[in-house]
Amino acid sequence: MRIGIPKTWIEFIPAPQAAVGGCPFATIRFAVCFVFVWMASTIVAAADESSPKFVGSSSCAAAACHGGLAGNKVVGSEFPLWAARDPHARAYSVLLNGLSKQMAARLKLSNKTAHKSVECLSCHSPATARKEFSITGPAPLASVDCEQCHGAAELWLTPHRRKDWKQLSPEVKQRLGYKDLSDVLTRATLCTDCHVGGAERDVNHDLLAAGHPRLSFELSTFHANWPKHWPRKMDESKHPVSNAKSNDPPGSLFEAKLWAVGQVVTAQRSLELLSQRAAHAQTWPEFAEWNCFACHHDLESPSWWQLPHRQKQPHDALSWNPWPYAMLEPLARQTFGPEFRGSASPISATLRLRYRFTTLLPPAADIVSEANEAAKLLQAWAKRLNQAESAQQLLSPVALKSLRQSLVAKEGEQLVARDWDSATQVFLAINALRYAEKAARGSLDSADEAQVQAVLDSMRKSLDFQDGYRGPRQSELRELDTLLSTPP
Ligand code: HEC
Ligand code: HEC
Ligand code: HEC
Ligand code: HEC
Repeated sequence: MRIGIPKTWIEFIPAPQAAVGGCPFATIRFAVCFVFVWMASTIVAAADESSPKFVGSSSCAAAACHGGLAGNKVVGSEFPLWAARDPHARAYSVLLNGLSKQMAARLKLSNKTAHKSVECLSCHSPATARKEFSITGPAPLASVDCEQCHGAAELWLTPHRRKDWKQLSPEVKQRLGYKDLSDVLTRATLCTDCHVGGAERDVNHDLLAAGHPRLSFELSTFHANWPKHWPRKMDESKHPVSNAKSNDPPGSLFEAKLWAVGQVVTAQRSLELLSQRAAHAQTWPEFAEWNCFACHHDLESPSWWQLPHRQKQPHDALSWNPWPYAMLEPLARQTFGPEFRGSASPISATLRLRYRFTTLLPPAADIVSEANEAAKLLQAWAKRLNQAESAQQLLSPVALKSLRQSLVAKEGEQLVARDWDSATQVFLAINALRYAEKAARGSLDSADEAQVQAVLDSMRKSLDFQDGYRGPRQSELRELDTLLSTPP
């Protein structure tokens, strides 16, 4: 069992992709079969008077709507594209696989099997959202489907077929239950519902120890790796760079927002989860809140664990889970300016918490209130980064470049020396910022492209776990450290 993120992420961090076009015939046929099986399956509804109802995604699948088999066309073929390629269409069926069976047995789940237990259905199916727990019938009707992301369709299903739908404001659509996912903050909040977790949906240390993959979410990376069912240009054109000179090529802030807002929202949601975990006295302390490598490390000598700087600071042996918070300081330095550490800044609030996690039993009541406070500050920051006008300035090509450069130098070096999670976030950030900067400039060239690529290539090798190792090896991380301290 790997404690880190899967190798494939490090190997496959692609350039922002073109939308998935065309489906091979076989997959299409497969997808269509799904639709029939799906329509036949039963979901026992339980009404919730207050919010709009889910109508079921089979309503989206008609050929004239989103179920077209339009060859290379994306628009109109969303349903078959999702069914054939989107990992979310498999989210329910993985609950029937061997790993899930193993987890169910180890965890002694409430309903004995994973595919019937709330502990798993909450993120792998629409069950919790629909308040339906008696799902029967085959996947993927039960998977993470259209309405899970776009909103329960009871009230918007009919209006959204009309010509004037596109003219309606996001607020009006929102009132009908339709989520405006073109807004990056809304999109990031949606993804983190399941990819970070929250109330009633928690991949805690019990689940990890039973075999669940660690949830290390990074929005830019996941977004790039996610097979899309809409044209990529749509995302870019909705977030134009407005202060470009008239003869500049049209730039887009979409990639920049995706990374920056994604980082801050992931941290915010992680703090909210922390607060919920700490509020449950019987399960506190929750091991998943600490750095995995504080307890899990190789028994070889010397190991990462025995790094000289660690020996000098024994109190640092236990540390906070660095993944969600690693990039906040570099981002704040760029988007807050010199006052970024003022006592009311989100950075000070998270630093106070970081200190708490140098012991194994930080007082739960303090953690609850401090985490809530820090989450609020981060939420305000995410709004600022997301807001059209402030984003123009905070995430300008110049700001993005200087942030990227700081990561290929001193700032990156310090983070890499800290731990594997932070080192990996630096790698993902350099990659994401490189694309963000290009997209914002509207051009694909940047003068130092070859050098940046060389840094990324060597980082990639160092960050991957060697075969048979459960954690990062000291020698490789040290190489990384040296690499970043002598930037090209
Ligand atoms: C907080 C939401 C959440 C909960 C609760 C949850 N999962 Fe997951 N699960 C995920 C996400 C997100 C992934 C994808 C992980 C990734 O790649 O980052 C995943 C991945 C998996 C995988 C790996 C799938 C694959 O393609 O290899 C299995 C198996 C799995 N979950 C089973 C379970 C079981 C069994 C339970 C209940 C005991 C459960 N999950 C509870 C969110 C959740
Ligand atoms: C995991 C989340 C997710 C799932 C599942 C999902 N979508 Fe989407 N979808 C998105 C996002 C994000 C966008 C981009 C939204 C935007 O910019 O408006 C999008 C865009 C679209 C668009 C283009 C919207 C526009 O404004 O032109 C359509 C149509 C669409 N989805 C239909 C579907 C259908 C049909 C399904 C089910 C088969 C589905 N989606 C499942 C997240 C999802
Ligand atoms: C309702 C819960 C839910 C939401 C919302 C959700 N996901 Fe997922 N996601 C999952 C689960 C569960 C899996 C694992 C499915 C599997 O392994 O087949 C997953 C898998 C993925 C994967 C594949 C991961 C891998 O390791 O291969 C990507 C990429 C992904 N999600 C991106 C996103 C993005 C981007 C968003 C937001 C627009 C999002 N997801 C929203 C539950 C969700
Ligand atoms: C405070 C110490 C501590 C921290 C921090 C910790 N673990 Fe564990 N972990 C343990 C102990 C003790 C066990 C064995 C008991 C058990 O299964 O719960 C264990 C067991 C496991 C196992 C199953 C045993 C195995 O070797 O396959 C996995 C997987 C695991 N942890 C993953 C993680 C991940 C991922 C993190 C970080 C998010 C983490 N742990 C953080 C102490 C810790």
